[in-house]
Amino acid sequence: MNVDQILQQFEATGAQTCFHGRHIEPQIYKDLNGSNWRLKDYIARGGYAALRKILGKEEGGSAEPMTQDQVIATVKDSVLRGRGGAGFPSGLKWSFMPRQFPGQKYLVCNSDEGEPGTCKDRDIMMYNPHIVIEGMIIAAYAMGITVGYNYIHGEIFRVYERFEEALQEARDAGLLGQNILGSHFSFQLHAAHGFGAYICGEETALLESLEGKKGQPRFKPPFPASFGLYGKPTTINNTETFAAVPWIIRNGGQAYLEIGKPNNGGTKIFSISGDVELPGNYEIPMGTPFAKLLELAGGVRKGRTLKAVIPGGSSSPVVPGAQMMELTMDYDSIAKAGSMLGSGAVIVMDDSRNMVESLLRLSYFYSHESCGQCTPCREGTGWMWRVVDRIWHGQGRPEDLDLLNSLADNIQGRTICALGDAAAMPVRAMIKHFRPEFEALIEQAAQRGAAHA
Ligand SMILES: Cc1cc2nc3c(=O)[nH]c(=O)nc-3n(C[C@H](O)[C@H](O)[C@H](O)COP(=O)(O)O)c2cc1C
Ligand code: SF4
Repeated sequence: MNVDQILQQFEATGAQTCFHGRHIEPQIYKDLNGSNWRLKDYIARGGYAALRKILGKEEGGSAEPMTQDQVIATVKDSVLRGRGGAGFPSGLKWSFMPRQFPGQKYLVCNSDEGEPGTCKDRDIMMYNPHIVIEGMIIAAYAMGITVGYNYIHGEIFRVYERFEEALQEARDAGLLGQNILGSHFSFQLHAAHGFGAYICGEETALLESLEGKKGQPRFKPPFPASFGLYGKPTTINNTETFAAVPWIIRNGGQAYLEIGKPNNGGTKIFSISGDVELPGNYEIPMGTPFAKLLELAGGVRKGRTLKAVIPGGSSSPVVPGAQMMELTMDYDSIAKAGSMLGSGAVIVMDDSRNMVESLLRLSYFYSHESCGQCTPCREGTGWMWRVVDRIWHGQGRPEDLDLLNSLADNIQGRTICALGDAAAMPVRAMIKHFRPEFEALIEQAAQRGAAHA
């Protein structure tokens, strides 16, 4: 069986994909079935109506085009927060673009999606690619940008090919390129693919990679809004962020905000993996209780109980299961619990999981993916992994937990990019919430040592 056949078999089950019908008020994944991704299907679902609206080109209508300020104000009203991880308000980010800059400005879509557990952007581009294209054209119009790129993770080449096909459809239909829909607005959009490095999801490493260089983060400031791609003003948003924009323009910012909860507008896609019956991508309103999301995913594996949840991708601190059951799925609620909504990758762990072993896997990932530019991250991530490794393999020392916390202290906030923080935070949280599991292994090691003395 070749890779395509395996994927088709897998997709047919609905697991891990977006067309399983267990969403709540979906906007991005609405009515998808795996094969209706083409331009004609998207238009039948109301696609490109938002673009027509901002350009004043609605069928049979005589409405004026929206101004750039009106588009940005609508996105601000929606309180659409960036879906790539940090949750920064998108309308505000768009307002930072120096629109009067006389040279080239760029728009970049971050489809690198390397955060462990995250697989939502892949499905958006595979099954609804035009929603990203439309969102990017609207963003480009709002910021006066004429060239854009979608940087797609290297290991999902099939998705990259699908996106290229959709781009060609849009160009052929006059939706991309010179004088879009006969207006004065022109926008060229290109797809580019990376080579699978996690760090290339960090926005400045992505820009370096897009320029053909080694993907390593830049010092900030200056931020991409003033010094981005090829040193020019650049706005970068996540795939899901752009995909949310057409609905907002069609229905208004306030309507989007009301679907979610204050300060957390709209729906959010959560990728649920781990010890649940029905792993997959789920689109639900912001502020939905975690318990409801877990129910949609079929609950914890039969015969098991919920032990812990990593709520926003592997870099977000772990939350004990009982505490998680009290939370709602939005940026503010998860932050109050000491963690982050991040990219929305919800990793569920049941009572069969040992937290030391889980942390070992995470620590290895971050030491492997460190780009090596700064000493605390390059040396510290490997050191943390080796300490966790010796605890797990029965050679832990009594001082190891203090050592791990001290290593985390010396990495967090002392590096060029947030990968250092991403590596440090899970260590601290695992020890804080599940200390007895670490201590038990260290104690056993001490007893074995005493017996052999
Ligand atoms: C190590 C690291 C990896 C990241 N990976 C991704 C990624 O895969 N996709 C993404 O959209 N953002 C990623 N980000 C966040 C981006 O730097 C950036 O904040 C985001 O693309 C902005 O888009 P948004 O405002 O729409 O969220 C990563 C950040 C760090 C520090
Ligand atoms: S924190 Fe790590 S990944 Fe980020 S620039 Fe420094 S070494 Fe590279």
